[in-house]
Amino acid sequence: MDKILIEGGRSLRGEIKISGAKNGALPIIAATLLCPGTHTIYNVPELRDIRTILQLLVTLGATWERIDKHTLKINSDNITEFEASYELVKTMRASVLVLGPLLARLGRARVSLPGGCAIGARPIDFHMQGFQKLGAQLELEQGYVDAKVCGRLRGNTVYFDIPSVTGTENILMAAALAEGTTIIKNAAKEPEIANLIDMLTGMGAKIEGRDTDRLLVHGVKSLKPAEIAIIPDRIETGTFLIAVGAAGGDVTLTNCNPAHLPSLSEKLRSCGIYLETGEKSIRVIRSGPLKNVDIKTMPYPGFPTDLQAQIMALMTLTSGLSVIHENIFENRFMHVAELRRMGADIMVEGGKAIVKGQGKLEGAQVMATDLRASASLVIAGLAARGLTEISRVYHLDRGYDDLVGKLSAVGAKIWREPEN
Ligand code: EPZ
Repeated sequence: MDKILIEGGRSLRGEIKISGAKNGALPIIAATLLCPGTHTIYNVPELRDIRTILQLLVTLGATWERIDKHTLKINSDNITEFEASYELVKTMRASVLVLGPLLARLGRARVSLPGGCAIGARPIDFHMQGFQKLGAQLELEQGYVDAKVCGRLRGNTVYFDIPSVTGTENILMAAALAEGTTIIKNAAKEPEIANLIDMLTGMGAKIEGRDTDRLLVHGVKSLKPAEIAIIPDRIETGTFLIAVGAAGGDVTLTNCNPAHLPSLSEKLRSCGIYLETGEKSIRVIRSGPLKNVDIKTMPYPGFPTDLQAQIMALMTLTSGLSVIHENIFENRFMHVAELRRMGADIMVEGGKAIVKGQGKLEGAQVMATDLRASASLVIAGLAARGLTEISRVYHLDRGYDDLVGKLSAVGAKIWREPEN
């Protein structure tokens, strides 16, 4: 395992090219299971989670090759297996995204329950209720969901109590091949859903309501292989915007989509951070003092829960009080204890964190607990006085493509070493 070391206090200058979205690529790679043929996917990030889902697809019978650094060709002519093992699913809960495509294509799927993770219990009851609405019989045995359907799935109305991102994606993929029309109500509206809809439409699916919380899917008998480009990673983009806010400097992010960060942009401007947006770029400048803001994480287009840990690190550098409500996951404050080691003054009360900005942080030895908490500690290290050492950075490698290289290129003194 590696650790990351950061000599803080250096401002950032230059340009960073944003990679394709992890949470866009995962469902689109799963969607290639829906029909035989060779699919082409552009702008795929190089991440551990991508390698994991490709490994899972191979166990199901698919083959794949990287045409170049960020282009994948996936062939799913011979999908003969229908089981996603615990060994794979426990390392990445997004593996449940193969449930919908396998049910739709083979009428059978046996997928390990993902189990919880650092940020919460992460149930998949909405997914299972949706499949049952589409006519699947599901049994839970020995920690696996065993799903089957006689003949084709049948269109129905599926309502989500909470607009689940992967729940919406799973039902979309299953409904694409169902008999009749499926209405998905209270669907998630994240940009990654639209990216998947564009892929499915390219495959011949008939879907209405893109970008809304009410999706209509008119099932078709068969689909054909397609090609698609993954959208820029809005969470990576937001992470770098916050990093410049924390470290100070003047950086231009390219190959990004400013329209995908409506809430964060407003919050950063309220913090006194200057943002200049182009069609596919954002220039971010921070030179003066930071102002404190309050945050409530919400489904898109609200403030993303995946940027909560990062903006908390930023709020520790203000000289005021910030109240951060985490409304999506029940245990997403694991980074608080680590930030406290760096001198932050943060009090947690249930789903609320109260940050009393001290205007500075001190470097320290800290430990990454989950993907976005790791990013929060990197941001804190960039701004802290002295050396910060972050252990267990394998969490970071799940969702950031060469974070260390990208930050080094704009002047950060950041490097990796093997953990002894
Ligand atoms: C997706 O997770 C993302 N992962 C998460 O990103 C992201 O934090 C989350 O959406 C929220 O935006 C991928 O897209 C691969 P949900 P997902 O279903 O789909 C509850 C990252 O850092 N719920 O939208 O699993 C759930 O517990 C990751 O990249 C149920 O109760 O999240 C949560 O409270 C972390 N039952 C809420 O709904 C269900 O069946 C929203 O979860 C499903 C969800």
